[in-house]
Amino acid sequence: MSDNNIKIFDTTLRDGEQVPGCKLNTEQKVVIAEQLDKLGVDAIEAGFPVSSPGDFKSVQAISKIVKNATVCGLTRAVKNDIKVAAEALRYASKPRIHTGIGTSDSHIIHKFRTNRVDIIQRAFDAVKYAKSFVEDVEFYAEDAGRTENEYLARVCEAAIKAGATVLNIPDTTGYCLPSEYGAKIKYLKEHVKGIEKAILSCHCHNDLGLATANSIEGVINGARQIECTINGIGERAGNTALEEVVMVLKQHPYLNLDTNIKTEMLYGMSQLVSDSMGIYTQPNKAIVGANAFAHSSGIHQDGMIKNRGTYEIINPKDVGVTESAIVLTARSGRAALAYRAKNVGYELTKLQLDDVYANFLSFADRKKEINDGDIHQIIETSKVYR
Ligand code: KIV
Ligand code: ZN
Repeated sequence: MSDNNIKIFDTTLRDGEQVPGCKLNTEQKVVIAEQLDKLGVDAIEAGFPVSSPGDFKSVQAISKIVKNATVCGLTRAVKNDIKVAAEALRYASKPRIHTGIGTSDSHIIHKFRTNRVDIIQRAFDAVKYAKSFVEDVEFYAEDAGRTENEYLARVCEAAIKAGATVLNIPDTTGYCLPSEYGAKIKYLKEHVKGIEKAILSCHCHNDLGLATANSIEGVINGARQIECTINGIGERAGNTALEEVVMVLKQHPYLNLDTNIKTEMLYGMSQLVSDSMGIYTQPNKAIVGANAFAHSSGIHQDGMIKNRGTYEIINPKDVGVTESAIVLTARSGRAALAYRAKNVGYELTKLQLDDVYANFLSFADRKKEINDGDIHQIIETSKVYR
């Protein structure tokens, strides 16, 4: 595996599942985990085992069926959480414990009511204890986005000393600008002693709509894992969307960063997660939204019909969408109408098209979107065609 391979850590079943209104049962989680494994993710965060007996059961069931990916369970920096996670992960062929603690002053002062030195000690102890169960231990510094870099570096050093294999740098509140987040990763790469023993991981939230941009800046600056969810689901405004970061890297080969994701499975994966969770994906969602490959204005449709590269930067087949859609509305032009008419069996002359187009516009002003059945009706009721 090259040094430029970016590991994809999927947390749909843990951080994603924290989305209000979502309840997945163990069977549904197992189906999603199986598909994530086939998709090619490197790690699946299956849940937070100590949080409930149901979550414990799900992490255990997923550990038994996942063949390729690392299976991970979340814990706080609390002995019992870690012990329970180790138990839930017992059957995983590649188990990972993900433990950590808040490191920003706001967490230290208000949540833990303690001091920086104590947090470093708790971080060290948690990783050390997790290492007594599994080899692969990921440490998260919650709210790293708002943690002062110099202190964050000291916390990371303690985690590495205790044996952490991955250092997760979450922008928990989605506050960072891409330049700031990228600079944070670069700072850690350059200042943490022993950093060569672990990889840095980006875990970004989308409160300001910057999760994808921040994760990409993170890997450009040296992180080698991205934590993300299908459709970007997650608490509040959600997490980094898996399909977005994967396609950003694929569509920008000069970055020389790749992933192991089978991108043709992305659309199906999105549908599976949305259907199972009962969480609707907005139509304009990048990559997997219903309109991601739909063209409706006349100017765009004309350009698309002549050469799809004019308005599309991704081949829809690359993400599992059969083809782009030329949507007929009152904003569409003659080129789009002729194209759609041809698809349903009418080869219109220029004269016929002028007449059918006038009929089409009055029809389309009444009805928002014109389907294939409407096209037959519009053409058959046009004067010249008859
Ligand atoms: O956003 C966050 O900080 C998290 C950690 C618990 C990893 O989800
Ligand atoms: Zn998170």
